[in-house]
Amino acid sequence: VGTDGRQYLDLFTNIASLPLGYNHHNMVKAMRNPHVISMAINRSATNVFPPEQFIRQLKFLFPKISPYGFKNPGFVWLGSTGSEAIESAMKHCSRKRAATTFISFDGGFHGRTIGALSMTNTNPEWSRGFPTVNVKQAPFPKNDAGIEYCAKEFQKLCNTDIAGVFIEPVQSEGGDHMAHPSFFRKIRAICSMHKIPFVVDEVQTNLGTGTYWAHSHWNLHEAPDIVVFAKKMQVAGFFSKRGIQPNEESAFNSTWSGCPFRTTLLQTIIETIEKEDLFKSSSIAGNKLFCRLREMKGIKNVRNINAFGAFDLVEMDREQFIQIMELNGILFGPCGKKSVRIRPSLVLDHDTVDSVLDYLNRIVG
Ligand SMILES: Cc1ncc(COP(=O)(O)O)c(C=O)c1O
Repeated sequence: VGTDGRQYLDLFTNIASLPLGYNHHNMVKAMRNPHVISMAINRSATNVFPPEQFIRQLKFLFPKISPYGFKNPGFVWLGSTGSEAIESAMKHCSRKRAATTFISFDGGFHGRTIGALSMTNTNPEWSRGFPTVNVKQAPFPKNDAGIEYCAKEFQKLCNTDIAGVFIEPVQSEGGDHMAHPSFFRKIRAICSMHKIPFVVDEVQTNLGTGTYWAHSHWNLHEAPDIVVFAKKMQVAGFFSKRGIQPNEESAFNSTWSGCPFRTTLLQTIIETIEKEDLFKSSSIAGNKLFCRLREMKGIKNVRNINAFGAFDLVEMDREQFIQIMELNGILFGPCGKKSVRIRPSLVLDHDTVDSVLDYLNRIVG
């Protein structure tokens, strides 16, 4: 319910950050627990006074959901925002490689702190006037025909000066550009060859593409070196195959490194997803939605991975479309210069999809 008292269906879910939607009964129940209330009020400086429950989550919850390849041994660093996690992953790469130059991709978005912003290539206005970290920009394929060219151009940038390569599984902010898994396999292989850390920025995609990690759709021959997360996970951080050495910990410390009551919400989310098979149900509903969108005359360039995706409008102005849909009680997000972004929660079901399609048919069908 909005501040105007009207009911909305949010298909953008607070910029892709609410996996169970608003006020899910399991989340409300978890937050009513006096122990969780106490953890929220008395937020710990986790490196010094970690609550017992938080230590258990570090031992059991994070290894359980960590991507394939990070289980044994696994390492997780926790922070507060996606940008901070990216920043810390950059430092991690720099230490490991004794290098300070990074590679990111044209159209990529990694956040707005100094390091993350230096790797962000979606809107020059956001970086104007700020200092930058050394970053080389590689081309990102707009279609399958561009994969070979982009991989070759990428390879030309790789050398011993490169600390790490940062890539999004779907360039979300940049316009929901989705490359074929073979492109990511090529980039991974080139990184392996040069021993450059291959860092997958899953801040927007984690828990969103019908699985925990979007990169698991790629069939990589070797797991990424680092996977960064935030948003739907409720806490930000990164998984790494190799840990930060104890004598370096202070270089990575933050008072609120991770958040015990937020990790409890994450635990509730994971339990709910598993118990209610939400990856499966949201994927079925999402594929139905995108399938029908492909049949609409006023819509083009539909792309999706299960319930995660976007489309362009044939004639209607994007901002006008979003505004009209909002007046009809349905919230969409923008991405790129002209695309409409869909990031539903995992409780998306057939009835919701039908009512969205009904409105869309009337407006752009
Ligand atoms: C792919 C990606 N990386 C990093 C970020 C930055 O995350 P945060 O907004 O939590 O700082 C975002 C935010 O939208 C993102 O989509």
